[in-house]
Amino acid sequence: DATDKGEFRHYMMKEIYEQPKVIAACLEGRISESKVLTSCFGADSGFLKEVENVHIVACGTSYHAGLVAKYWLEDLAGVPCSVEVASEYRYRKVAVPKNTLFLTLSQSGETADTLAALRMAKTLAYLTTLAICNVPSSTLVRESALTLLTNAGAEIGVASTKAFTTQLTALLITSVAIAVENGLSAEKEKALVQAMRSLPSYVNAALQEDAHIKKIADRFANKHHALFLGRGAMFPIALEGSLKLKEISYIHAEAYPAGELKHGPLALVDENMPIITMVPHNDMLDKLKSNLQEVAARGGELYVFADKDTELNNEKNITFTEVPKVERILEPIVHTIPLQLLSYHVAVVKGTDVDQPRNLAKSVTVE
Ligand code: G6P
Repeated sequence: DATDKGEFRHYMMKEIYEQPKVIAACLEGRISESKVLTSCFGADSGFLKEVENVHIVACGTSYHAGLVAKYWLEDLAGVPCSVEVASEYRYRKVAVPKNTLFLTLSQSGETADTLAALRMAKTLAYLTTLAICNVPSSTLVRESALTLLTNAGAEIGVASTKAFTTQLTALLITSVAIAVENGLSAEKEKALVQAMRSLPSYVNAALQEDAHIKKIADRFANKHHALFLGRGAMFPIALEGSLKLKEISYIHAEAYPAGELKHGPLALVDENMPIITMVPHNDMLDKLKSNLQEVAARGGELYVFADKDTELNNEKNITFTEVPKVERILEPIVHTIPLQLLSYHVAVVKGTDVDQPRNLAKSVTVE
């Protein structure tokens, strides 16, 4: 029952812990042993063959999910993708290339700016409109031509958690489906689908660090600022981590692609600035390690989230949190979990109203 907190003190924590289950629910019926089942887009799945471009429009946490999808779509499908916040998109003149899919992301399906963006898009020459949404009866679902539901169940905590990771799951399904029409081999599709099947257990493994993260959280309580770093598809996850910390613990946080550090934020780094870095285990690892050295040299307090094989667990001056080693494509989803836990525990230490942060609403239905 969504309105019952069960053993948890807050809805947010309950929803964080529901993620293995709801990610499995999001995958259910959408993938077989080796393939993405395009029937999940409904009878009109023929649009997948036509897509030559994707415009993603959303707000808040949903916008961050869209930013990750850009990496997946361009990497797997070679299809150009642009991502924009709805409150900007709706007030400008948009150029729509031939055969562009308009894709909205929304937990509630009632966000005023996202709905207005959809209504505008419907007057433009898009291929079709697809909503990835958590609420089947929402306005967004009703007004979009196609829908892929995230199946996360009711989300009550204002700070979005399980809605975000199921949006990412649905976006991965969509990206692979478009990639298959753009020449992704059956062998690669099978490998991706099999990786997706392991997602619930990977997320469960990431949750095992909860007690360790709770201990670290104490050290953030008296901080006024924090910097989140990521590279590649981990940059949007850094943005999402910083948004979560701002929303519920009221600590000013910013996110940067790690390579931009020396173009400004490095000036802020001193012993009072915690730097939280999501380290993917891919070809950017060495570049990221050198970014970390730049921070360490200036006395910055480093918190690193990475798998053990990165060998960052033995470095001096680094507070290390283990994230399970997973297929590269899944890293953004699995790395989200420790950041949710971190913001939650910092908020609890600070004594804020975790589920109902000041000045914020679960769904922004007015402009
Ligand atoms: C509000 C909520 C956020 C959410 C955003 C977009 O700001 O507090 O958690 O990400 O709206 O909402 P949506 O329902 O469209 O995903």
